[in-house]
Amino acid sequence: MTFAPSKGDNCMFFAHFSDLLALLFHYFNIYALFCTRLTERLFRIVKQISTIAELRSELKQCREQGKTIGLVPTMGALHEGHASLVRRSVAENDVTVVSIFLNPTQFNDKTDLAKYPRTLEADCRLLDECGATIAFAPSVDEIYPEPDTRQFSYPPTDSVMEGAFRPGHFNGVCQIVSKLFMMTEPDRAYFGEKDFQQIAVIRRMVDDLGFRLQIVPCPVVREESGLAMSSRNTLLTPEERATAANIYRTLRDSRQWMNRLTVSEVHDRVVAEINAVEGLEVQYYRIVDGRSLADVGSWDESEDIVGCITVYCGSQPIRLIDHIRYKG
Ligand code: PAF
Repeated sequence: MTFAPSKGDNCMFFAHFSDLLALLFHYFNIYALFCTRLTERLFRIVKQISTIAELRSELKQCREQGKTIGLVPTMGALHEGHASLVRRSVAENDVTVVSIFLNPTQFNDKTDLAKYPRTLEADCRLLDECGATIAFAPSVDEIYPEPDTRQFSYPPTDSVMEGAFRPGHFNGVCQIVSKLFMMTEPDRAYFGEKDFQQIAVIRRMVDDLGFRLQIVPCPVVREESGLAMSSRNTLLTPEERATAANIYRTLRDSRQWMNRLTVSEVHDRVVAEINAVEGLEVQYYRIVDGRSLADVGSWDESEDIVGCITVYCGSQPIRLIDHIRYKG
């Protein structure tokens, strides 16, 4: 007896075969998606862009797809402090742009600019690890084809402390940050609280110029010793680095003193204790209102009180900035 499949059997066979193909195709798609995600995670390569035109066109496409944009402005020589800003932006936005630009207009001391560490390759590796989307590293001519003659003035935030000791510094910061905001039009911009005064100045600029974005302040990241992470720390010898740890140690201790000492007594004791350490010299210490940065005379004067310090450390010497929150 021979078996000859009927016309009905043929139809059944093709129906099952096409179901099988559809199923295989479905699983293949899942597998391909998995491989793509895995490759992205393992070999994520941050896109390096050096021109404003390319940055704008890349971000235009992102915006058209409804993606949100986070901006992390930096001057390079990236460390864990920067990485924490980038990771936060990656978690809160679809696209993270990290600008790497050593901005000459904010350096009133040109030798300080000359010795600032430059580490673009290592910076991009760190950005890969953090999952940043774009590293924007333009030349000075790209950003300033003409000298920037704009003047920004937001007293007292930009005239006290760093503003007083580094004339023109915050004007330069406002010049570059406002340009970066205009080029990227971010939804959020991330700044480290280590540069506490800088955030206060940038907030004033954002209000003044009406930028529609959120400023996200991020907590200071510290080395194990308590020293605030900074690109400048790489310029310290290991011994100087250990000495520098006394700055935060004293600031932290000073929080205990505020119950029995007045503002000016705490001020004087902080300065005296830091100056007593060989290799450290306080340039200024101010106890201020955390928003206006105006000096406070008593602990009851404000609900937001911060101590801001700059100390010279070591033989070169290197200027180190830190702060401590007393209230708020
Ligand atoms: O904080 C910095 O590194 C710089 O002042 C900034 C905000 C990147 C502007 O050059």
